Amino acid sequence: MYSEKVMDHFSNPRNVGEIENASGVGTVGNAKCGDIMKIFLDIENGIIKDVKFKTFGCGAAIATSSMATEMIKGKTVKEALTLTNKAVAEALDGLPEVKMHCSLLAEEAVKAAIDDYIAKNPDAPLE
Ligand code: FES
Repeated sequence: MYSEKVMDHFSNPRNVGEIENASGVGTVGNAKCGDIMKIFLDIENGIIKDVKFKTFGCGAAIATSSMATEMIKGKTVKEALTLTNKAVAEALDGLPEVKMHCSLLAEEAVKAAIDDYIAKNPDAPLE
């Protein structure tokens, strides 16, 4: 049912944890199941230097959170804003259709953390 990449990121998630004094923090919940994801960004000169996440959710949510953090690390804020849940699911070699909603958590949490950063630093560069 799940690809090897999904199982790998679920069993061995990358970038789990928190960042103290993060540049931006985003928390989102999935209305369908009540699962929650929190993402922390460390941003310097418009570049995402570090990213950590905490997900209280299903295996697909954990795997997509892990992959999403890997995909935005080292990228500009502007690039990270273009991340879609579809791209994350594709990078994991696909998700079962009934689990696609789980991947939305990752996209929305990244955007929420960036929104938080922009609200705190309205004049900061995004790239
Ligand atoms: Fe809740 Fe997957 S079932 S995020």
